Amino acid sequence: MWLLSWVPGQGTGQHDHGRSSGVLTVLEGTLTERTERATRALTGGAQRVFAPGYVHEVVNDTLEPAVSLHVYFPGLTEMPMHAAPYCEGRAVTA
Ligand SMILES: [Fe+2]
Repeated sequence: MWLLSWVPGQGTGQHDHGRSSGVLTVLEGTLTERTERATRALTGGAQRVFAPGYVHEVVNDTLEPAVSLHVYFPGLTEMPMHAAPYCEGRAVTA
């Protein structure tokens, strides 16, 4: 389980979670999640659930800090980075 704080502009880069499944919950502020299919604004209380192989990027692109809780099973042991062709200007809103 990870409790993360995000300063404005802070992000993960595009990555997956190895063989872990996970749940991301935004506790405070707003985070943006970008995937190949969509860009989503996640506000307080929003959750994303994902299986192994799920690729995304999470960034705080607001001017306020954010806090999120991440739970992984099995425990996260790797976070391979991916090239990010869809994270450079092509926004798809879901
Ligand atoms: Fe992630």
